[in-house]
Amino acid sequence: MAIPTTRTKENATISIDSEKCTGCGECVSVCKDFNFYIENKKAKISGSPIFGCIACGHCMAVCPAGAIEISGRELSKDDLFDLPLRKDAANYEQLYALFSRRRSIREFQDKDIEREIIQKILDAAVTSPMGLPPSDVNVLILDSREKTRRFAVDFCAFLDNMKWFVSGWFLALMRPFWGKTNDEMFKGFVKPLFNIYIRNMQAGINLVNYDAPLAMYFYGSPYTDPADPIVAATTAMYAAESLGLGTCMLGAIHPLIQSGRKAKIFREKHGIKYTSREGLFVIFGYPAVKYQKGIKRTFASTDVMN
Ligand SMILES: Cc1cc2nc3c(=O)[nH]c(=O)nc-3n(C[C@H](O)[C@H](O)[C@H](O)COP(=O)(O)O)c2cc1C
Ligand code: SF4
Ligand code: SF4
Repeated sequence: MAIPTTRTKENATISIDSEKCTGCGECVSVCKDFNFYIENKKAKISGSPIFGCIACGHCMAVCPAGAIEISGRELSKDDLFDLPLRKDAANYEQLYALFSRRRSIREFQDKDIEREIIQKILDAAVTSPMGLPPSDVNVLILDSREKTRRFAVDFCAFLDNMKWFVSGWFLALMRPFWGKTNDEMFKGFVKPLFNIYIRNMQAGINLVNYDAPLAMYFYGSPYTDPADPIVAATTAMYAAESLGLGTCMLGAIHPLIQSGRKAKIFREKHGIKYTSREGLFVIFGYPAVKYQKGIKRTFASTDVMN
């Protein structure tokens, strides 16, 4: 059976042009589904894959003779393009400068984000690696301050309706089931966050998405590898940074709109098609603040395995 996603439940089909094939064996090396072998100096289809072709496209992209065609699972030969030159790709110093200059920006100029810039962010984000092709990441785009504010107002109204979720009796009831760390997180972070979001919105202050002129919500489906939306959101964030925008990831919204009838109504109202284990908002805008210094960060640990 093919590996299912929301976009396809079929395997892709492989065809080899034996006339063109030089028998170099590159396709055999790169296909981790073991769809190829070499016989009489020509690539042949093994017929004994692990899952069936997932349409990663690697064989087609690596073949020096252009002898392979994959079609299905949203991929075809038309999806191949000429690689940008290595000399045109950012080097480590350039990337490090981009990474280390970044700060989470929550103060934005009152300036719309141009269509072309939004498209460039999406063009970059869609290159992200994914657990299994075709990507099962969905992107909801809020492309004006009016939309981010409307979303935040609705979100705060939704939280106001869900206050029981952080009430003393509910947390006491859940503690034996979800354990000490969750209990600590709910009491120390989620409960105060509910109050901060709701109270500030009542005073007209949007601490949910800061009235950013652009937000993107990267989310999956019940099939998606949970890391996929996060990886795509990260690529989008750095692409936007390279285009001169300030960005901030927002983690609080996604987990709160996953479960229950009211969350379903909220998702439907805002065109969010699926629930997923992980999802992440990123807000974007031209920054209204300028940082003078970078800030050194550390990991909790970096251990080399014995
Ligand atoms: C997964 C994730 C979720 C985040 N969620 C929020 C959020 O909901 N609201 C917010 O203001 N900042 C959020 N942030 C931004 C962090 O607070 C910020 O990264 C941190 O304060 C460090 O600042 P820096 O990004 O400038 O290094 C989030 C960051 C990440 C990586
Ligand atoms: S990579 Fe292309 S040329 Fe090389 S063996 Fe496979 S099909 Fe033939
Ligand atoms: S597309 Fe990927 S899975 Fe399919 S045959 Fe080529 S390398 Fe193998």
